[in-house]
Amino acid sequence: MKKRTNKNDKELLITMYKKLILGDPIDTEAILCEVPAETTESSFTGVEKSVSFLKDFTICRKGLETEPAKEYTREACTADDPAGEIILTRTLSDRELVYGLGETLRGINKRGWIYVSNNADDPNHTEDKRSLYASQNFLLLFGDGAAQALFVDVPGKVTFDVGYTDLKKLEIRIASSDAALYYAESEDPLLLIREFRSLIGKSYQPPQWAFGFGQSRWGYKTAADIREVADRYAEADIPLSMIYMDIDYMDHFKDFTIDEKAFPDFPAFVQEMKDRGIRLIPIIDAGVKIEKGYSVYEEGVQGEYFCKKEDGTDLVAAVWPGKVHFPDFLKPETREWFGEKYRFLTEQGIEGFWNDMNEPAIFYTEDHLKKVFEELEHYKAMEEMDIWTFFGFQDLMGSINNRPEDYRTFYHEYKGRRLRHDLVHNLYGYYMTRAAGESLQKMMPKGEYLLFSRASYVGMHRYGGIWTGDNKSWWSHLLLNLQQLPALNMCGFLFCGADTGGFGGDCTEDLMLRWLAISMFTPLFRNHAALGTRNQELYQFAQTDLFRNLIRLRYALIPYLYDTFTRAAEENDLIFTPLSLAYPADERARTVEDQLLVGKAFMIAPVYTQNASGRYVYLPEDMTLYRFRSPEDVDVIPLKAGDHYVELSLGEVGIYVRPDYEFKTENGVFRFTVKA
Ligand code: GLC
Repeated sequence: MKKRTNKNDKELLITMYKKLILGDPIDTEAILCEVPAETTESSFTGVEKSVSFLKDFTICRKGLETEPAKEYTREACTADDPAGEIILTRTLSDRELVYGLGETLRGINKRGWIYVSNNADDPNHTEDKRSLYASQNFLLLFGDGAAQALFVDVPGKVTFDVGYTDLKKLEIRIASSDAALYYAESEDPLLLIREFRSLIGKSYQPPQWAFGFGQSRWGYKTAADIREVADRYAEADIPLSMIYMDIDYMDHFKDFTIDEKAFPDFPAFVQEMKDRGIRLIPIIDAGVKIEKGYSVYEEGVQGEYFCKKEDGTDLVAAVWPGKVHFPDFLKPETREWFGEKYRFLTEQGIEGFWNDMNEPAIFYTEDHLKKVFEELEHYKAMEEMDIWTFFGFQDLMGSINNRPEDYRTFYHEYKGRRLRHDLVHNLYGYYMTRAAGESLQKMMPKGEYLLFSRASYVGMHRYGGIWTGDNKSWWSHLLLNLQQLPALNMCGFLFCGADTGGFGGDCTEDLMLRWLAISMFTPLFRNHAALGTRNQELYQFAQTDLFRNLIRLRYALIPYLYDTFTRAAEENDLIFTPLSLAYPADERARTVEDQLLVGKAFMIAPVYTQNASGRYVYLPEDMTLYRFRSPEDVDVIPLKAGDHYVELSLGEVGIYVRPDYEFKTENGVFRFTVKA
C-alpha cells in the first residue's frame, strides 16, 4: 500500500480497497487511513442496486423518510427499525469458501450458519448461538475465481446470513441506513488480508513475558490463596509466569480498589510474587459502583463521564458490584480520566490487566427492575396461572439481563453527536480498552504492558488482545479454540487465546492435557475457571510429569512464537493460517478445518476428542513429524504428503515441520530455521 498526497496536502492511500459510503455513517476509527470514497450513494432507498465495484453484490437501502438525523433520538429510531436498513446480497458458488468474522462460533468456513454482530455477555457458547463477545465484520470469499474481501464498518447490529436461509446465498443485513463498506478483490486472498490489516493499523504486541503460562480462577480471594497457587506450582516444578486476579481482589468489586484485609500490603505482595518470577494480572470491569464517597464514582458524576439516559440522568444498571454507572468511553475526556485510573495499580507494581464485562454486560437496569416488580404484583394476585400466563411470567423473570430494550435507553456523546447506545453498541469494549491502552502506553512508553479485553470490535486490536470469554470444559470447545484463531488474526487480533481447560463446567485430566497441547501455541496461554467449578490448576491432577513437560514445551516454543508474532504484527500477516490459504492448489486442503499452520515453519493437528489414541492428519506436502513428550524426549518421523493416522497419547504434542525448515534445539530453546 502506497501513500500519496493530494492537492490539500491530505494523505490519501493508494489501496486496492474501495470505500462505499451510504448515508452518514459513524466513524468507528477501525480504519486508520483516509481511503478515498470511490462512490457515495446516499440516494437509493428501497431499491436494489448493484454498485460497480461491489462486484456480485446487490444492495438495497431502506432509508428514513428524511435525511439521516444528526442526532439519533428516540423519535428518529423506533425500537424495531433503529435507523432504516441496508441489505447486501450475493450468490455463493458451490466452491466458494467464506472466512472471517473474527470471534464467532462454528468452523473456519462460516458457510451454513447465521452470525449476528451484537456483542453479547453469553456464557453458553452452544452451536445454536449467533453472537459472542466481539464484532469483527470482515469477510473473505475465495476459492472460485478472484477472492473478495468486505469490511462492514458499522458499530450497531449487523446480521451475516452465510447460507443459513439459503445455502447458496450470502445476505448481510445492517440495522441502519448508514454504513461504510470497504471492498477489494484479488487473485490472492492473503494479499486481501494483509492489505486490510494495513488499513486498520498495527496490532498490539505485549512484552515477551506475557507469552508465559498464566493461572487464573474466579475465587482466589486473598494473598494466601494466591501464594498457595504459586507454592503448589513451585512444588510441582511446573513453570508459571502470571497469576490472574479476578474480581475478588477488589473492595466490594469496585474498580481501582484493593481489599485491604485480604491484601494488607499489596505493593510488597506484588514484589514478592515478581521476585518469584510471577506477575499478578488484575481484572478491571466496565461498570463503576454507585457509592457515596467512592472517589471513582464521585469523580465520574462530577466530570459527567457516565452514560446518560434520555432525561439527562446517569443510567443505573447492575453488574457484580451491584448498582453501577457505565463510563461513556466514546468521549475522549472519559477515556483519559478512566485510563489514568489504572495508575492506581501500576504504581503498586502491576504491569498487566484484563478488561471485562465490557459489552457492556447488564444484569438489570434500575428502571426495568421497577417495572418487573410492578408486574409481579399482578402475578401475585392470581390464584392460578394458565399456561400462557405462566409463559409470560417465565419470560418476565428470565429476560432481565442483557435486554435489547435496555441497550436503547442510554446515550453516548461521540464526535459531536448524541448516539443511542444500540447504534454504537459494539464499540464499547473497544473504547474501554483504548482508554486503558492509551494510558498504559504513556505510563510504559516501551509498550511493556499486557492488556486484553473480552468485548471487541476491529480497531481494538491496536490497543490490546482478547480472550474468547466464558467457554466450557467441553471437548467441542477445544476444536472451537483452534477454529477461531485464523479469523481473529485476519481482523488484527494476534494476541488471543481461550480459557484453557474451559471456564464453566468441570475439567477432567485428559481434557486439560489435550487442551494444553492446543493452547500452548496461542499467544495468550491461560488456565481459567469459574467459581464453583472443579479446581483445575495443573497440580490438581495426578500425572504431574505430563503437565510439567507440556508447560516446558511451551516455554521452549516461546522464542519462535514471539518472533512469529512480531513478524505477523509488522508485516500484517497471520500467525495461524488455514491450509486452504497456504496450499490454494490443493483440493483436500480446502476443507481441512482442524489443522493450522503456525507461522511459516510448521503445522499442528491436535487431538480434540476424548479417549482417542491419535488422529488422522492430512499432509499437503512431505513433512517431518516431531512427536514431543518433553523438550528433550522426541520421536522424529518423516512423513510423505497424504493421509496418515498419527498416534498421540495424552501428553504428546505433534509438530509437523515443513520441508523447507529445519528444527534444532539450542540451550533448551526450539529453533525452526529455513534450510540452507
Ligand atoms: C466474567 C468473565 C470471567 C470472570 C467472571 C468474574 O464471566 O468472563 O472470566 O471470571 O466474569 O469476574
